[in-house]
Amino acid sequence: MNRPYVILHMLTSIDGKITGDFLSSELADVYCEEYYRIHREYASRAFACGRITMEGSFTQGAKPDLSPFYRAKVAREDYVAKRHDFYAVSIDPHGRLGWSDSEIHDPDPGYDDAHIIEVLTAQASDEYVAFLKSKGISYIFCGEDEIDCALMLKKLFNLFGIKKLMLEGGGLTDTLFFEEGLIDEISLVAVPMADSSDGIDLFANKKKGLLTFKNVTATPLANGGLWLNYKN
Ligand SMILES: NC(=O)c1ccc[n+]([C@@H]2O[C@H](COP(=O)([O-])OP(=O)(O)OC[C@H]3O[C@@H](n4cnc5c(N)ncnc54)[C@H](OP(=O)(O)O)[C@@H]3O)[C@@H](O)[C@H]2O)c1
Repeated sequence: MNRPYVILHMLTSIDGKITGDFLSSELADVYCEEYYRIHREYASRAFACGRITMEGSFTQGAKPDLSPFYRAKVAREDYVAKRHDFYAVSIDPHGRLGWSDSEIHDPDPGYDDAHIIEVLTAQASDEYVAFLKSKGISYIFCGEDEIDCALMLKKLFNLFGIKKLMLEGGGLTDTLFFEEGLIDEISLVAVPMADSSDGIDLFANKKKGLLTFKNVTATPLANGGLWLNYKN
């Protein structure tokens, strides 16, 4: 396979929500910890998230200061700032994330020290691309208006040697991979709660698609939770 093997790893309610009231419960905290434990146990050397998830988890909504790069002109070429043994793939089509430097800083060793690769479309501004380069952040161009997931995976494999990728939300980003049939395995930590609040679905964009798996392992977790793992 000349692309990374993709594992979708998510925390859900019984009815397949990835956000909602169920996440504010004390019970959910236990399963959040299980989610991070399982993430670490996969020992994948790369994980990917969409722009909104990256903002919530790592940049805390910071905006990039583009003023030093006003009217910068940059080549629309992929940029490998460095080869590392651990990568955070940031799917940010318009170039909006205000990273402070080129690595993730997080108390969880499952995320800490990952080198950031920004996945952009042609819609990202020259100023933003110059901003990334000044921070030593790698970037790849994958599509005109929308992310071309197949192209992204090919570049991650060829330029960075990524062979396994944990896909970790949110729902819009998961859908991009789903639509193109690029999910090889699903790992769900299911919180034993159904939630009728207005949460985001595991696949947030309601588009047609069907993924079938042949093998499932269901591992009970404390207090009624489950870890569900689907593979072929
Ligand atoms: N339960 C879990 O395991 C889990 C895991 C991760 C995240 N989450 C939660 O999920 C929520 C965020 O999910 P989300 O679905 O709103 O956002 P997301 O997938 O994190 O980010 C989506 C972003 O990608 C860009 N995009 C544009 N068009 C798109 C398209 N057609 N398809 C996909 N992406 C497109 C957009 O960025 P631009 O607008 O900049 O173009 C869009 O805002 C957060 O609340 C987070 O906490 C839960």
